[in-house]
Amino acid sequence: MRRFVAGNWKMNHGPVEAAHFIEALPPLTDLRCVTVIVFPPAISLPAARAALGSSSSISLGVQGVHGEASGAFTGEIAAGMAAEAGATYALVGHSERRTLFHETDEETGGKVAAAQLAGLTPVLCVGERINERKEGRLEEVIVRQLDAVLGSEVVGDRIRAGVAFLLAYEPVWAIGTGKEATPSDASQAHAILRRRVGHWLGSDRARELPILYGGSVTPANARGLLAAEGVDGVLVGGASLDPGSFARIVELARELC
Ligand code: PGA
Repeated sequence: MRRFVAGNWKMNHGPVEAAHFIEALPPLTDLRCVTVIVFPPAISLPAARAALGSSSSISLGVQGVHGEASGAFTGEIAAGMAAEAGATYALVGHSERRTLFHETDEETGGKVAAAQLAGLTPVLCVGERINERKEGRLEEVIVRQLDAVLGSEVVGDRIRAGVAFLLAYEPVWAIGTGKEATPSDASQAHAILRRRVGHWLGSDRARELPILYGGSVTPANARGLLAAEGVDGVLVGGASLDPGSFARIVELARELC
């Protein structure tokens, strides 16, 4: 079974450090069944691309895109520009974007559409806050976030037509806190999401849709999470900043193939 290991560097590793990271990465061998993606800051994409070389088995992604293809949006990055700079994936709806930058469910829908239009594979992040979880609203929250994207006819039609799309379940209370979800918490949320994907896209597409878990993944807990029912990969923040620990997580994924 194919597994995904993605590293979200957030606002870390500028162009010089990005190149150093890639030079320091231990060789990742036999990646036939593991897709490895790194999300550097957008400004580091060209340096990362150059350091990887053209034959690399590591893909690059952008951490965020604007919903429009161009225009008067000072400071923003269009999906097509990220593609030109070497990205093939785009994170959309990360909880830090939703919370710190007030991105709405509607905006995530527009960003997924823009990423698809530019040929990037969107990785839609959804997840509940701790108070929502305690109030028993896990399903309500993650389904609402998913529906805002898959309920769009244009996005749904593209995915049904075969355009790639990934989902990441990232409980907000687990991000950057050192308190990862248990493998069974992850499986439970992934099952909810997969059922809902089936509602929009049909059960065949739902069965094969990769759903990654993210939130305090480390080399110490990655094996259990990667082996959990319905978990197709991990989205790693803090532990992806160190080449050795990122490579170790990739290795753990490879061992499970
Ligand atoms: P973390 O971040 O691994 O540092 O918790 C995960 C993420 O935000 O994608």
